[in-house]
Amino acid sequence: MCGIVGYVGKNNAVLKLIKGLKNLEYRGYDSAGIAIYNKNIEVVKEKGRISHLEEEIPANLVGNVGIAHTRWATHGVPSKINAHPHLDNHKRFAVVHNGIIENYLEIKNFLEQKGYNFISDTDTEVIPVLLDYYYELHHDVLIAFQKMLKKIKGSYAILVLAFDLPNTILVAKNHSPMVIGLGYDGIYVASDIPAILEYTKDFYFLDDEESAVITDKIVFYNKDFEKIKKTSKKIDWEMDETSKNGYEDYMLKEIHEQPSALIQTLNGIICKDKPISFVNFKIDKKYLESLRQIYIVACGTAMHAGLVGKYAMENLVRIPVSVVVASEFRYQNPIIDNNTLCLFISQSGETADTIAAVKLAKKMGARTIAITNVFESSITREADDTIYTHAGFEIAVASTKAYISQVGIVVALALYMAETLNGLKYEALKTELMDLPKFMSDVISNENVYHKLALKMKDEEHLFYIGRGNDYNIALEGSLKLKEISYIHSEAYPAGELKHGPIALIDKGTYVVGIITDDKIALKTLSNLEEVKSRGANIILVTNQKLKEENVFIIPKISSILSPILAIIPLQLLAYFIAKEKGLDVDKPRNLAKSVTVE
Ligand code: M6R
Repeated sequence: MCGIVGYVGKNNAVLKLIKGLKNLEYRGYDSAGIAIYNKNIEVVKEKGRISHLEEEIPANLVGNVGIAHTRWATHGVPSKINAHPHLDNHKRFAVVHNGIIENYLEIKNFLEQKGYNFISDTDTEVIPVLLDYYYELHHDVLIAFQKMLKKIKGSYAILVLAFDLPNTILVAKNHSPMVIGLGYDGIYVASDIPAILEYTKDFYFLDDEESAVITDKIVFYNKDFEKIKKTSKKIDWEMDETSKNGYEDYMLKEIHEQPSALIQTLNGIICKDKPISFVNFKIDKKYLESLRQIYIVACGTAMHAGLVGKYAMENLVRIPVSVVVASEFRYQNPIIDNNTLCLFISQSGETADTIAAVKLAKKMGARTIAITNVFESSITREADDTIYTHAGFEIAVASTKAYISQVGIVVALALYMAETLNGLKYEALKTELMDLPKFMSDVISNENVYHKLALKMKDEEHLFYIGRGNDYNIALEGSLKLKEISYIHSEAYPAGELKHGPIALIDKGTYVVGIITDDKIALKTLSNLEEVKSRGANIILVTNQKLKEENVFIIPKISSILSPILAIIPLQLLAYFIAKEKGLDVDKPRNLAKSVTVE
């Protein structure tokens, strides 16, 4: 999704901003732009890659203050005109913005009646024009800024350069992330920590409706524009984590990092012969006995991890669990009371729908727990408790290691609840979970097998994934990975559902991927595969059973509660190699963004 970087300091802002934007490239974007203050405000913007923008920046564009943006189109097509920064009619203000100004049409109409012109299709353009309108009235940039913030509604992270305020960046945030970093050579501001992590480890996190004025110092304001004090926090992430470390792509690197990600995730939570425990987080027996239901709310891959959590919790804890997509949950009037526990899973911790769902559940009386990979992300400030997944930075848009860590946490949580409620020890399952990283490495090391099959499959147009129980949850995630990065249409079905409709699509040569990891239902899925085979389908099997098929990926045998952690790996690698064979950019698939901060 859109990325923001700003810099006020001693060095040339152009280089800092371009570097910052490149650090955010992984998030996905379709145009980029930069504004530099040097006597005047100079703006350069282009459709397409940051390298394209770089080519257009004149050598004489230098200055110590600037703002920059990568845009992922929401209002208006990807184009040079719609790219940020946007200017007002008098070129007094340059603005970059993440989020959506919900009342932009109303503001635009109002300003048009006052004689102002608009040149883009974006909602963002109302911000500089509104600033200019208030500046004409009050002749004071700060008053204009605060009046503008009072008027706009929606989600925003905004940076402003003002002609009348040299060496200054104005900042505001509401429901879109924004961090400010203290560097040795200046002050940095960005929508995401990785953009500026190479310059600083000292961060201020703005809360919703807060704003700031950055010069050689930072003045913070609350929502009523009263000055406030904030404390910075040290981030101990290493920039190394954001390099490809010799791999061709981030996605491949992150697939290979999955065993160590799971070790980090479970570190300190699960130990041999000890009850499971979480840092800073407890659920007691009485509370569990009072629970009527559990909701798991998330989007995309995180929701698929939630489905694996449901399987584990319902099997081990015997409390009903509903898994709901966040964008549905927030509008479906969910049945929630004090006896409801709501878990929210989000790698980024910035997904707009998931955050809105946390707020709703909290308001309705539920206890809320966020499961996220990003320290201090917005969701951590909304939920009652946070459990970090500790997967390390995930840069590829298609989630792999974050998924494994999410599954690790929800299964550990299920075991924790079961131990607390039933007073039993689940040593066998815990040992299996701790042993998984070495099995995962074995499955990953079979890379060539998946690659060979990918060569045969790269020109396919449709694919089906089927499974039952937890295998169906794996099928859903495997199918999502394939469509995200290879653009091949694929669908996942519960194996038994095929003959209720989808089997009509099976033709000679159609590939059907079957997942069979549960002894109890293995033969059932197998007979569903026979049904499609007899209609000419090509079968691929991911299984821990001794089954004879042409294309079989054998994975080690473990409990069906944990099987997703192993069975997803062949599917991730198959999707990866198919996309590579098609010559696609696996890390930055078209139309997708790493974190979806708008509804
Ligand atoms: O940051 P989140 O976990 O909240 O993101 C949720 C989804 O947008 C995300 O999992 C998406 O489906 C990924 N691209 C999957 O690979």
